[in-house]
Amino acid sequence: MPNRPRVVVTRKLPAPVEARMAELFDTALNADDRPLKREELSALLREADVLVPTITDKIDGGLLAQAGPRLRLIANFGAGVDHIDIAACTSRGITVTNTPGVLTDDTADMTMALILAVPRRLAEGTRVMREGKFKGWSPTWMTGHRITGKRLGIIGMGRIGQAVARRAKPFGLEIHYHNRKRVHPAIEQELGATYWESLDQMLARADIVSVNCPHTPATYHLLSARRLKMLQRHAYVVNTARGEVIDENALTRMLEAGEIAGAGLDVYENEPAVNPKLVALDNVVALPHLGSGTIEARTEMGEKVIINIKTFSDGHRPPDRVIAAML
Ligand code: 8YV
Repeated sequence: MPNRPRVVVTRKLPAPVEARMAELFDTALNADDRPLKREELSALLREADVLVPTITDKIDGGLLAQAGPRLRLIANFGAGVDHIDIAACTSRGITVTNTPGVLTDDTADMTMALILAVPRRLAEGTRVMREGKFKGWSPTWMTGHRITGKRLGIIGMGRIGQAVARRAKPFGLEIHYHNRKRVHPAIEQELGATYWESLDQMLARADIVSVNCPHTPATYHLLSARRLKMLQRHAYVVNTARGEVIDENALTRMLEAGEIAGAGLDVYENEPAVNPKLVALDNVVALPHLGSGTIEARTEMGEKVIINIKTFSDGHRPPDRVIAAML
């Protein structure tokens, strides 16, 4: 790799990140932030040593086959890599890195915000005020449900899942979790967390379910129509991970039918498209993928991208290498 590698950045990044990248690398930026068409990306990849994509780019085998022979590193701006065909990268000898850790707290904060917002009807209340429909306090009007004492079932107890548990515990939520592996006993003890090897059994007992696992072939529609039916009628579902983990149409049908109590969603199965019926429901708080949307997180994500490129181009192993076996 040349000393000043050709780096193609697909979206506009925070200004200090772009400035530093331009100092260090021969950088192609996307000043107007227009998502690139596949042909445009393919053309840029012919001369690139490094690609810096985001979730809005689909990096599949077909696109990689059109890339020039110089492409050696995909330094993803984001933690999730489900938009990148890792196996195709590996077989072409292309290293992939991501940006874990720096968005954990912000994503966990947003998860907690949704855990509070849905049962306490925050979005509905805001709409009432905006529409001038507040006619005065009443003992029985717009009652929601208490958070304290409820069972939170976390699906995916990685960095973000643990950060959610750490926030939820002081709110009086009982922590339950399902994960491929049980976490270290010291962490279970700290969080007072109960491990459920069976997701089905946890779902049947949870009051609030939070999805915090990555989207992989194994987690696609993990919350299938069959599993969603195991939830109690008063249960809430929160998802700040990936839309594909939940069967969105099945979730919409159940919310419409009142078979579950509500949902707080930051991610969708076919972003940016969303089932309009889902967004229209009063018992749904829908956000436009804002989990890591703080200027601090986005800047630190960019700094991680720079460190990954720099270490790689200096001939070292980049700190945030994504290994297929880890997914
Ligand atoms: C990012 C995310 O903003 O990092 C992730 O996995 O889901 C988001 O918070 C997005 O992926 C950037 O590519």
